[in-house]
Amino acid sequence: MDACISQSLNEISYGLYIVTSADEAQKNGLIVNTAFQVSADPAKIAVCVCKNSFTHEIISKSRAFNVMPLEQETPMVFIGNFGFRTGRNFDKFAKVSYTVGQNGCPVVQEHALSCIETRVEQTVDVGTHTLFIGTVTAGQIFKPQGIPLTYEYYHTVIKGKTPPGATHL
Ligand SMILES: Cc1cc2nc3c(=O)[nH]c(=O)nc-3n(C[C@H](O)[C@H](O)[C@H](O)COP(=O)(O)O)c2cc1C
Repeated sequence: MDACISQSLNEISYGLYIVTSADEAQKNGLIVNTAFQVSADPAKIAVCVCKNSFTHEIISKSRAFNVMPLEQETPMVFIGNFGFRTGRNFDKFAKVSYTVGQNGCPVVQEHALSCIETRVEQTVDVGTHTLFIGTVTAGQIFKPQGIPLTYEYYHTVIKGKTPPGATHL
């Protein structure tokens, strides 16, 4: 990619989030940097999820997902559990406790500031990824004074890497 384009794209700031979903048979979650509010009334959230991911398969069936903003000091091993392994052959919830939200999707409290529950209203095919747009149906606060983890902090302080499924490398 052209260096100016690459540098320009680097100026866009993001947070880091766990996105979870579940259907009758299975549950899973992944890390995304691409979660953002797209409307206020009713409140709607969009997440951009790689078509190859197991979570994509489950959100497509369940038509629901939860978004949990991560706290700044989230350990790399925790991010690795959700962001560097696929749930197709590994239980990401084996060592992570969770409850079940009103929409049936896992709610992870560990290292999360809050949880936003949604029901999928629209999907947009953007090529390698699908943009799932969900109406917010419930919310919980875990750490009211917590500092959110940004993508910049993840790269510059935690020295974290980004795997191929991410929208932004
Ligand atoms: C910092 C970071 C940012 C990521 N951002 C995204 C993203 O925005 N969208 C996405 O689909 N995957 C993203 N990923 C990659 C997924 O979390 C990763 O492919 C995950 O292993 C998929 O798991 P699954 O197959 O169990 O769903 C990101 C990973 C990391 C570590």
